[in-house]
Amino acid sequence: MEDRIEKILKDANVPFEFIPLPEDLPVDVPSHMKFYRDTMQHALATMIYKTEKGFIAVSRRGDTKVNSKKLREFLGIKRLSLATEEEMTGLGLTPGLVPPLGLEIPLYVDKKVIEADYFYDGTGHKLFGLKMGVKDLLGVNKAIVGDFTTYEERYTKKRVLSGITPSGNTLHLGNYAGAVKPQFDLLEKGVESFYFVADLHALTTIQDRNRLEMCIINNVFDYIALGLDPEKGIYFRQSGVAEHSMLAIVLANYIPFGLTNRMHAFKDKLARGVSKEKINMGLFNYPILMAADILLYKPGGVPVGEDQRQHVEFARETARSFNKAHGEIFPIPDPLIEKGNMSKVVGTDGERKMSKSLGNVVTIFDEEEVIRRQIMGSYTDPNRKHASDPGKVDGNPVFIYHDIVNDDKAEVEDLKRRYREGKVGDVEVKESLFKAHMRKFAEARRKRKELENNIDMAREILEKGAEKARKVAEETIKEVYKIVGITNKLNS
Ligand code: TYM
Repeated sequence: MEDRIEKILKDANVPFEFIPLPEDLPVDVPSHMKFYRDTMQHALATMIYKTEKGFIAVSRRGDTKVNSKKLREFLGIKRLSLATEEEMTGLGLTPGLVPPLGLEIPLYVDKKVIEADYFYDGTGHKLFGLKMGVKDLLGVNKAIVGDFTTYEERYTKKRVLSGITPSGNTLHLGNYAGAVKPQFDLLEKGVESFYFVADLHALTTIQDRNRLEMCIINNVFDYIALGLDPEKGIYFRQSGVAEHSMLAIVLANYIPFGLTNRMHAFKDKLARGVSKEKINMGLFNYPILMAADILLYKPGGVPVGEDQRQHVEFARETARSFNKAHGEIFPIPDPLIEKGNMSKVVGTDGERKMSKSLGNVVTIFDEEEVIRRQIMGSYTDPNRKHASDPGKVDGNPVFIYHDIVNDDKAEVEDLKRRYREGKVGDVEVKESLFKAHMRKFAEARRKRKELENNIDMAREILEKGAEKARKVAEETIKEVYKIVGITNKLNS
């Protein structure tokens, strides 16, 4: 079979690649796409069906599923069932390895396939995969294009994306509990994840290239030390994918001034007495760029802390506005926000959310002495004067931090009980918190020290991640540019 495919493609004189596959690679599409390090959007799956008019082949994109009602209507048939293994063998085909050309039965291709520009599929041989352009394929196999699939929720809904603004060696318990940990948990569950260092966003406050670079690299060290596997998650630097900026410029035209004017980041600055005349446009436009960051990858969810909810809402509004003008281009992403205290971890001042700019943080990677001071200086229950007074645990910063870092749950419960009963002093609670912090992050802190000399590795991780991210970003920009009627070199 594969020899025939190769001959057809060579005779047609179109570019294609036969990709050698490992012998133990399971014969299923997700395993293949994982091996290619690409998304289901670029998988083509070709299936054989039996109908009252005979056998047919149907090619669909990996992130879609055939809607049998739509397909029956499209073909004007009543009976439709997948061919059995025996029937496939009878046609000279191997189940799971059907190529999208060279077949002797009619072939139908779903229209979502032509939204991608290239795809991977089988060659008929277990040890070779095929990669080629969609247009080239349709030129060769003369398939009939129809509309008979729907998106498979699993793949559209499950992609997630999030960003973090690089601001130095200051990852704190708020970032960790509200964003980093939930993000890593999603990755562990196998959710396709895009995480980036939002360096373009950092320009609103950092205008010193050396500092910016240091902040970006530090962010990589933090993430890797905490356990991000860059082979599993797509981790990159925002400016490494120019499409973020390209999309922001287009989307700005779908966002009313009034909506942007009501956003927190901008309003907070005004509230702090900074004159409107002086606020830089980067800050004002911040939500527009963030909407572009999100929509570019069409994620189903955006795991962030509560403080970013308004920005995700803004992105949803932007998507709706664009879709209203041009059809369903952008899925509406859900904010994925932790419940309760973790959604907005309170700072050591016991009042405002933990935030580097407010100086009320407990950091993860600072020197031991710095972390000890942060913890010892934290507010607890302001109404409690003596260790023998019954204290309040709910909303008490040190107990929230215990919940984040102390894996010895029995100890936490015991401290909480004694605190309520007035049987433990603040100092003991804080001492055990400090110890728990050191235990929890011992491995990460050790690893970070080890990584610190390896700036080249950090750069390489970001560059490799950007390469993968670009594949998705380019698709969206092509689609959007085409729809709105502008062009660039990418899609000329
Ligand atoms: P940033 O860098 O301020 O924060 C990174 C993440 O940490 C969360 N976070 C918190 N969660 C709970 N309690 C806290 N005290 C706390 N402090 C911070 C934030 O909610 C965030 O999830 N604008 C974003 C970066 C960004 C982005 C994006 C995020 C740029 N583009 C696209 C998502 C999608 C920011 O400055 O986060």
